[in-house]
Amino acid sequence: MKKLALLVAAALMCASMAACGSSSSSSGSASASAESSASASASASTEATASGEETTGDTLIMGTNAAFPPYEYYEGDQIVGIDADIAKALGDKLGMEVTIEDMDFNSLITAVQTGKIDMVLAGMTVTPDREENVSFTDSYATGIQSIIVTEDSEITGPDDLEGHKIGVQESTTGHIYCSDDYGEDNVIAYTTGANAVEALKTGKVDAVVIDNEPAKAFVEANEGLKVLDTEYTVEDYAIAVAKENTELLDKLNTALAELKEDGTIQSIIDKYITAE
Ligand code: ARG
Repeated sequence: MKKLALLVAAALMCASMAACGSSSSSSGSASASAESSASASASASTEATASGEETTGDTLIMGTNAAFPPYEYYEGDQIVGIDADIAKALGDKLGMEVTIEDMDFNSLITAVQTGKIDMVLAGMTVTPDREENVSFTDSYATGIQSIIVTEDSEITGPDDLEGHKIGVQESTTGHIYCSDDYGEDNVIAYTTGANAVEALKTGKVDAVVIDNEPAKAFVEANEGLKVLDTEYTVEDYAIAVAKENTELLDKLNTALAELKEDGTIQSIIDKYITAE
């Protein structure tokens, strides 16, 4: 019964994600036409990817999962946030236009491996397992896995999670680490963090483990919840590119270093995250 309800919730969410996807792809197609005219005039910079597809050197397709404020979220039909701004700044440095593709978080690695997208900026944590499939740039931010509970909860830190139902976003580090530490049976994975938070509000789970900044945003948007002070893990966010795409990796690392050096990255982060 519970499983069925989950399936229904997941199906509903897919439907709404698809709706989001179409709005993002309509804005994507606007830049795609700009891209094709640009590539017509710059065919000399055409390069072959490992998958054998020809891509122009002028457009960078960023893949993300835009349900993760303040890193990526919708403002109207626009995807905004720290990652979107950083990608734009990188594009400006490299003289490339950036377009954004929104998809499920668990599709991102495959999408970059197959060349559907050029890079992932999604508050994605560098992990040894992911490094077997993609290359990561230098880190551009630190992430923390935090615990959200209801205000009256008896859970005060990671140790108290034992034996409780934990909600997570599917395929995230929160999902992976909680399954390892507390057993898969105690972990319920949702397509988005917002859905996990919804499950917490309705008592389907006792806690949600998710990155700290989205956790704060979700708690702010929902009454009766709090983020615990105790951190579960501390992680590095970086940009993922296809293993074969060493040229893009090098370009991104050089541009990233310059943007760190001149304070651009910090000012983008400060624009979205106010220091406590
Ligand atoms: N940092 C976590 C991870 O890499 C969660 C990232 C989720 N990002 C998103 N855009 N939904 O697994």
